[in-house]
Amino acid sequence: MPCLVTVGGFYGDEGKGKIIAYLAKQDNPSIAVRGGVGPNAGHTFAFNGRTYKVRMLPSTALNPSTRLLIGAGVLVNPKILLDEIAAFKSDDRTFVDSQCGIIEQNHIGRDSTDSHLKSRVGTTGTGTGPANADRALRTLKLARDIPELSLFIEDVSNSVNYALDSRENVIVEGTQGTFLSLFHGGYPYVTSKDVTASGICADVGIGPKRVDEVLVVFKSYVTRVGGGPLQNEISEEEAKKRGWLEFGSVTGRQRRSSPFDMELAKKAVRINSATQLAVTKLDVLFPESAGIREYAKLPSTARRFIEEIEGETGLKVTLIGTGPDLDEIVDRRP
Ligand code: IMP
Ligand code: MG
Repeated sequence: MPCLVTVGGFYGDEGKGKIIAYLAKQDNPSIAVRGGVGPNAGHTFAFNGRTYKVRMLPSTALNPSTRLLIGAGVLVNPKILLDEIAAFKSDDRTFVDSQCGIIEQNHIGRDSTDSHLKSRVGTTGTGTGPANADRALRTLKLARDIPELSLFIEDVSNSVNYALDSRENVIVEGTQGTFLSLFHGGYPYVTSKDVTASGICADVGIGPKRVDEVLVVFKSYVTRVGGGPLQNEISEEEAKKRGWLEFGSVTGRQRRSSPFDMELAKKAVRINSATQLAVTKLDVLFPESAGIREYAKLPSTARRFIEEIEGETGLKVTLIGTGPDLDEIVDRRP
């Protein structure tokens, strides 16, 4: 499957980072390219007992033969990007589109002091909303204006399209989640862009006919951070009891939680034209699944949960996360 697009099916934090890091190890893509908003997203993956977090680079950073690209629609915070390039020693294989927008200190300031953004919407305060507003006003600086980035500039849409012309494997990494989309989420409790599969492809510069597979990632339960409605939300005490209490990887804020929402999942499948699904953190819902790598060895209650999702959506759950390490996964792909 040369062109695989991954997107979040709920409100972000579905565990896309771990799934993508696993795919990078298993499928050895020549390119991973990040779409989505920017450094408001933190993708986490663990390997060999170490935990890694990326806010700018694709989650494939541990594979030294995968080129790490950032699409033109993504906002770049140069300091965060340069720190990650240094941490992963990826200076020879990281490339940023010349037209990526640049987040400056004034955007971060506006995002963290504006009462509408900070208190009502509950943004991450990373400057992405104000930067996208300036981009719409056509006053935002672009990556091509920043000398510190000059070594990393490339025409990312050309690189991705040429790689696909030669049938190379490409992973397109979406960030956030379907219901944080500016268009399809519960406005105004949304992020500053469309983050569904089509939006992610536009960020990167590939057309809809280029895509072979759309992998929508769900978590076994739903979390959201910031304002906005959450159907069947459970209390903090209940979340603690169930092991669902999580904290944001960018902001450290406590996440709200609710049980898996089948109606939301079906809507995400439609909006993204999903072709396959991943379900993460099955071990949190069914502790006996922890670390299992074969579907048949999962407890029957866990298999019933997966089969209910498959029955309702009409799609196969091809990847199932059973623990934090990127190898703690059931891979049911053909
Ligand atoms: P912003 O994207 O920082 O403007 O925040 C808008 C809303 O999207 C807030 O509710 C944030 O908590 C949420 N949000 C943005 N990015 C992510 C993410 O990567 N994971 C989870 N929530 C996010
Ligand atoms: Mg996250």
